[in-house]
Parts: sequence; C-alpha cells; structure tokens
Amino acid sequence: MERKVEILADKGSLVHRACELVVERIEAAIAAYQRCTIALAGGSTPKPLYEALATQDLPWDKIHVFWGDERYVPHDHPDSNYKMAREAWLDRVNFPETNIHPMPTQAGNPQADADQHNQELQNFFQGGPRDLPALDVILLGMGDDGHTASLFPHTEVLQVCDRLVAVGNKDGQPRLTFTIPLLNQARCVLFLVAGANKQNALQQVFAESGDNIAYPSRFIQPQGECWWLLDEAAGQGLEKS
Ligand code: 6PG
Repeated sequence: MERKVEILADKGSLVHRACELVVERIEAAIAAYQRCTIALAGGSTPKPLYEALATQDLPWDKIHVFWGDERYVPHDHPDSNYKMAREAWLDRVNFPETNIHPMPTQAGNPQADADQHNQELQNFFQGGPRDLPALDVILLGMGDDGHTASLFPHTEVLQVCDRLVAVGNKDGQPRLTFTIPLLNQARCVLFLVAGANKQNALQQVFAESGDNIAYPSRFIQPQGECWWLLDEAAGQGLEKS
C-alpha cells in the first residue's frame, strides 16, 4: 500500500498524531477482531508516545503487546526495550500480564531465545510453521543509518525470510528482531522518525531506487498501511508524497 507521510512541526506534535493514529487502529482492530495485537519499537523516540497511550481509556484486556525487537540484555537492564515500555506505559495501566509478550533474553543463547519466541508467536496466532501472522499495528523507529527494528545494514538477518523472529546484530551485539516478512505482513506499520540526523537516511529510504541492504528500512513495504510520521527536522528535503 502507498506510503503515507506526515511531517509534523515538532516531536510533541509527532507524538500527539501518533497517539491519535494508534488509538484509532487499536479501536478498529478490537471492533473487527475483538482484540488488538501491537508490536512496540524500542529506542528513545517512542517513549513519549507510550506515556501518552498510558493516559488513554482503552480496554487493556483486549490488547496484546509484543516487541518488534529487543536488545539481548536482561529485562531489568537499562537498555531493555521491554523495561522502557513497561515503565512508560504498561505498568501505568491495568494490563493483564498474559497480554504482555516480551522477547525472551534469558537463555544466554540469542538463537535459542529467538526460536522460543518464534514458537510463542506461532502458538499465539495459531499458525503453522509456514504461516505469517498479521499484527494489527507495528511501531517502528529508524536509525540514522537507515536500520529499523534490529535489521541493521549489511547484516545476515536481512536475508531471513522463513521465520518470524531472528537474531540481529548491531556492531557485534546480538539482538532479537521481527524479520522483514513478519513486519511486512502487518495491517498497519507506523514509523516515528525525529531529528535532523535522520535526514540523509530518510532521503535514501524514500528514493525511488536504492540499496535496501545499505538502508534496510527500504525493505518495509507492508501489505497494510504504512505511515511515516516525521518531525520537520527529519523531513527536511523530502518532497511530500
Ligand atoms: C532499538 C530500536 C531501533 C530504534 C532506532 C531509532 O531497539 O533501538 O528498535 O530500531 O527504533 O534505532 O532509535 P531512536 O528512536 O532512539 O532514534
């Protein structure tokens, strides 16, 4: 589906708009499927969005939360995407613990944990080994190198197309990540990108032709909606689509 790009004046208005879109899609998913499945992004940009979502009045028992990627650290580690989302959102509202599906990072073996989460997702979505579940909403950020989730430039995980979850690699540090096929199966992908340091990568990602391996966010072309919410600093130099 065609990319929808909105350039917001600043990060605050980007977060406000993101919250609007996410709430709309959560409510639509619940109306259609009696539940919503949402995967969260890590990093710093989405934190105020999670804080905003914590102020919403939503049927938390109908929402299931996953993560699109996770650093391979304990869940109480300061770098943990799980820890950030729990503190900014999930622990502030009445989420049933059974609705929270963190990526496991305690086996001391990233591949074993990736395999476990792969199985957890298949069980949750009641699919077989070849099925690709469609999450209702997947939130993503983008690094200044054009990576998204833990799909980093020139890494092997970019070639993984027969699994839902795989081991990514950032400068030798293992990470767990949704794979490109799983991300592209989403009903709605929402990128949140702020800051002038993202300008160059955005222009490479939005270019008609380019190197997906060098700028992995180019691979994300979901079968559903694909929103890019940018602040003016990040969106400078882009002609609006
Ligand atoms: C992570 C994220 C990662 C992040 C980008 C952008 O685990 O760090 O999943 O892909 O979204 O690096 O991060 P910022 O939002 O902090 O710029």
